[in-house]
Amino acid sequence: MSSYSENNRLITVHTIKEMAARGEKISMITAYDYSMAKLVDAAQIDIILVGDSAANVMAGFSTTLPITLNEMIYHASSVVRGTKRALIVVDLPFGTYQGNSKEALCSAIRIMKETSANAVKLEGGKQIVESVARILSAGIPVMGHLGLTPQSINKFGTYVVRAKEDDEAKTLLEDAHALEDAGCFAIVLEKIPALLTKKIADELTIPVISIGAGMYADGQVLVLHDMLGITEDFSPRFLRRYLNMGEQIRNAVKQYVKDVKSGDFPNETEQY
Ligand code: KIV
Repeated sequence: MSSYSENNRLITVHTIKEMAARGEKISMITAYDYSMAKLVDAAQIDIILVGDSAANVMAGFSTTLPITLNEMIYHASSVVRGTKRALIVVDLPFGTYQGNSKEALCSAIRIMKETSANAVKLEGGKQIVESVARILSAGIPVMGHLGLTPQSINKFGTYVVRAKEDDEAKTLLEDAHALEDAGCFAIVLEKIPALLTKKIADELTIPVISIGAGMYADGQVLVLHDMLGITEDFSPRFLRRYLNMGEQIRNAVKQYVKDVKSGDFPNETEQY
């Protein structure tokens, strides 16, 4: 019989590696709260990412930079309470790991201790391998993140596709190998050409998961609010919308306002 406890969910980092090895695509989505986590978990998602995109879709910031470790811990512990099956990965937010590997370890330990999540995700390549190794030495699985890394938006200047030029593609490939060698169990590739993703996926033994990085990855990740159509002002080519929830929510609330104003709500059966 399968069983789970607070931090012993059915999908583990080993399950994820096995899925990729047998050619089964990995499904990953973001969530930031208990109710949404419960819904996406019931839909059999493999990995829930408590992304620092919470800064954008939950808090309304224009970048991911402002979110704090305490805020990520609040979101992640809410997600953990709603999740029985999926592996839960939590972003280390900007400014909590770039200083040195000890800082990175302390931040990762706080996430694991205070949320009962299963793994952390860090952005960057060769420059973070020491931190990756140190976090792993404490028994904490690490997911990498390369390509368009939103925490570096001030360096990039725009959110356009990364690594179209040979030099950047070469560096990215080297970074992917460095992260695999350092012990990452998987890597997210964001907004890079599909053929570069193919090359990386072919060369690496660990799974690569795409967001806007094409069909050759071992899995796909989307931001929940984007694919549900809650964020309506964001329409990159890679985004497939599965619902128009923004419109549906507006219409539902408009109807509620109308019903309250007209005295239609509540009726006799909706009172005590
Ligand atoms: O924070 C996030 O949602 C992410 C995804 C874009 C992969 O890192």
